[in-house]
Amino acid sequence: MNHFQPRRGVLHAEDVPLPALAQAWGTPLFVYSTATLTRHWKVLQASLRGLDHTVCYAVKANSNLAVLSLFARLGSGFDIVSAGELYRVLKAGGDPRRVVFSGVGKRDDELAFALDAGVGTINVESGPELLRLAAVARRLQVRAPIAFRVNPDVDPKTHPYIATGLRDSKFGVTVGEARRLYAQAVTDPHLDVRGIACHIGSQITTLRPFVDAVGRVRRLAEELARAGVRLRHLDVGGGLGVTYHDEAPPSPAQYGAAIKKALAGWEGEVHLEPGRVLVGNAGVLLTRVLYVKRHGKKTFVVVDAAMNDLVRPAFYDAWHDVVPVVASARGARAVTCDVVGPVCESSDFLARGRRLVPPAEGDLLCVRTAGAYGFAMSSNYNSRPRAAEVLVDGGEAGLARARETYPDLVRGEAARPRRRRFQPRRR
Ligand code: LLP
Repeated sequence: MNHFQPRRGVLHAEDVPLPALAQAWGTPLFVYSTATLTRHWKVLQASLRGLDHTVCYAVKANSNLAVLSLFARLGSGFDIVSAGELYRVLKAGGDPRRVVFSGVGKRDDELAFALDAGVGTINVESGPELLRLAAVARRLQVRAPIAFRVNPDVDPKTHPYIATGLRDSKFGVTVGEARRLYAQAVTDPHLDVRGIACHIGSQITTLRPFVDAVGRVRRLAEELARAGVRLRHLDVGGGLGVTYHDEAPPSPAQYGAAIKKALAGWEGEVHLEPGRVLVGNAGVLLTRVLYVKRHGKKTFVVVDAAMNDLVRPAFYDAWHDVVPVVASARGARAVTCDVVGPVCESSDFLARGRRLVPPAEGDLLCVRTAGAYGFAMSSNYNSRPRAAEVLVDGGEAGLARARETYPDLVRGEAARPRRRRFQPRRR
């Protein structure tokens, strides 16, 4: 369900025709829908009714301040993986007490920033990190609220680059290691042992891996309780998939029901870290056709968005629907096209081998389900200014991020850097 629907043959974002947005702010342009974002957040929230839970939106999926602020106003917590993300959450008015800080490689300054801001939980992912965090907390004279991220060794059956809960992945600690680390952590006055966490991967389209993972983590929590380590919360991570093409992921209601069942009788709180399911189809990428180019049997539709704007097709061979913003004339003949960008790489495609009525130069195309890991993964490769982002609400739209300018591209650079002299090391 989303609010990007055609009206009289023209795609709209809620009540705003997409061509009007392209006219106002140019292309490539990310467009987000307030109604879709709000709806998804509320549906997930409702699916968990009955559990004492906190939804902590995974900021990495889409970290625009306007999106974060909308979720903050809905009462969301946030899952962050860097101090930069924490900075954004605070800027957007998020409540630090509802922030969970995940990630395998937190630096000392990031840990200090998080403790200083008063984040709710730091998910610790290794023994060395535990020591480091305890030292930082001691230096700041605070108690660090922690959970261990356990790697439950469950196959999420997703793209290997986004599977995180298998034994040989870099994330979390094994169940055995967790037992040892909990025993160690409870003796440290600078650590406040609060919970247990897991996150097994992303774009997961069946319930089984979630149920297995949550079951394993819960059993460990119960075992710890018998040993005297009582945990207040269990964090089930994120990972629920969305439909890009022909996937049929469980609905939030089915997901919520499965989590509730797996945690029936659990007396603590439950934290969730959903990203994609909240923002994925709440965003599209608008792009304009530059050229239609044929060689041999191939038709290339060259557009003004590229892999630097949306890297998922190049990176994961991911599918995104690409549709004309203004419906093609009825009966027009579709041909097989590759929709490609201007970047100098053959991996620079948004879609390959698609049946499309060949568009004309200047036509607008809409790349769907680009709200998650779209702008957030964009770059300046080929010195392309990053796209603008717009948030639509009913019949209105506002610029949530201005298009980058050429001066933005070189900010911080120096054509002839001021030099400093360094001494070679003597043995
Ligand atoms: N929690 C943690 C600790 C995570 O690492 C992630 C995502 C999430 C929550 C949110 O997962 P979600 O609900 O969005 O699946 N760039 C990739 C996805 C990478 C996901 C990384 N971790 C993509 O474009 O498919």
